[in-house]
Amino acid sequence: MTLKKKNKLYEGKAKILYSTGYSYSLIQHFKDEATAFNAKKKEVIEGKGVLNNFLSEFFMQKLNSVNVPTHFISRLNMREQLVEKCDIIPLEVVVRNIAAGSLSKRLGIEEGKRLPRPLVEFYYKDDSLNDPLVTESQISTFEWATETELGEIFEIALRTNDFLCGLLSAVNLTLVDFKIEIGRSFRSEGEKLIIADEISPDSCRLWKTGTQQSMDKDLFRNDEGDIIEPYKIILKKLQETN
Ligand code: ADP
Ligand code: TMP
Repeated sequence: MTLKKKNKLYEGKAKILYSTGYSYSLIQHFKDEATAFNAKKKEVIEGKGVLNNFLSEFFMQKLNSVNVPTHFISRLNMREQLVEKCDIIPLEVVVRNIAAGSLSKRLGIEEGKRLPRPLVEFYYKDDSLNDPLVTESQISTFEWATETELGEIFEIALRTNDFLCGLLSAVNLTLVDFKIEIGRSFRSEGEKLIIADEISPDSCRLWKTGTQQSMDKDLFRNDEGDIIEPYKIILKKLQETN
């Protein structure tokens, strides 16, 4: 199979998608741009794209290996990976183990409080509306996902949470919360949901175990320091577990 990087299909805040010449795949290119608060805060952080390409590869490959399907096919080079093209469900699926971020702000729950069980939330993916929190009933009413798909999304989200919690605890990190995107795969074996986009410290909150010390994009969001060194450390430690 000769893969050709063809047209730029989409350029987002952190990544670029290219066509490959094959209808079922895309090339996902990781940029160095870091944004927060719907791109109100923006900076180029040299090396971030390379690290997130490797980190997302690591997490997605591990998930694939335990039959949690993801779009990841193979890493092509330092900044690019070949992924399965899918029809993205317009939801940001957030799973939380510990109160932090917008949950603490919205409901006044103390940051750092462990939740009695993992909490799954849905945000409607629309930058012009600031990705608002939405209910399951709204998701059904507006047909963003069917009820069957919603059940499957809960299952994928919770299995991903269990698996990532274990993986990260082995390198002394606590998975506070994370965001995933899910898409409908076009594979011929019937409709199937897969994890798409990226899984990296840009889309997770990771605290050094036993502390509230961030090792993720909150360092950038809150002007608390460099992210490159922590991302490098996480990647190195994860790779050592292999
Ligand atoms: P944003 O669109 O929020 O600025 P990015 O810069 O990360 O975000 O752009 C990546 C885009 O690619 C996202 O809109 C995401 O939904 C989409 N995407 C990720 N994986 C896939 C995939 N496998 N198939 C189709 N679209 C994808
Ligand atoms: P929140 O507490 O700001 O709602 O974030 C919850 C999780 O989702 C956190 O791990 C960061 C991640 N996230 C994204 O990946 N993209 C986003 O646009 C936002 C707002 C959060």
